[in-house]
Amino acid sequence: MATAVCPGSFDPFTRGHRYVVERAAGRFDEVVVTVVVNPNKSGMFSVDERIALIEEDCADLPNVRVDRWTGLLVDYLTENSYSTIVKGLRSGVDFDYEVPMAQMNRELSDVETVFLLTDPRYAHVSSSLVKEVAKLGGDVSPFLSGHIHERLMAAVTGQRKV
Ligand code: PNS
Repeated sequence: MATAVCPGSFDPFTRGHRYVVERAAGRFDEVVVTVVVNPNKSGMFSVDERIALIEEDCADLPNVRVDRWTGLLVDYLTENSYSTIVKGLRSGVDFDYEVPMAQMNRELSDVETVFLLTDPRYAHVSSSLVKEVAKLGGDVSPFLSGHIHERLMAAVTGQRKV
């Protein structure tokens, strides 16, 4: 069975992420969206919240499931007998950021990274930009599924009250 691992912080999961996962789901038997936990970085959403939001977003994709990992990504793949990472590319900037990681992962553990182009509609969308714009009162609803937008706005409103 060919499995694709789509790793990321997903804080939160955007329509750009969803597009890449959906494309991967059409080409691999199984896709695992793996929320990679960075113990040194606290996100806007807890890991449990991120997982729940992604699960809801991908509920219509039967061959997609969500998992979590703390540590070296290649160890996750080795432990689960997976060999392929799928990443989305929005631009050359992503390419320059991703290539060293892909080469390192291949050298560390013979893990292959497959790049899928994102939809041009989401080429400018990132979790960090979406959070920044939302905090400053901009409309980010086109870039997130409804339930994620709702949660983000609740979180942002909560932050404003502090
Ligand atoms: O969504 P992000 O933050 O761009 O995802 C980056 C992520 C989490 C996929 C990357 O930082 C990662 O793989 N982290 C796990 C730790 C690791 O294996 N680091 C070495 C990469 S060569």
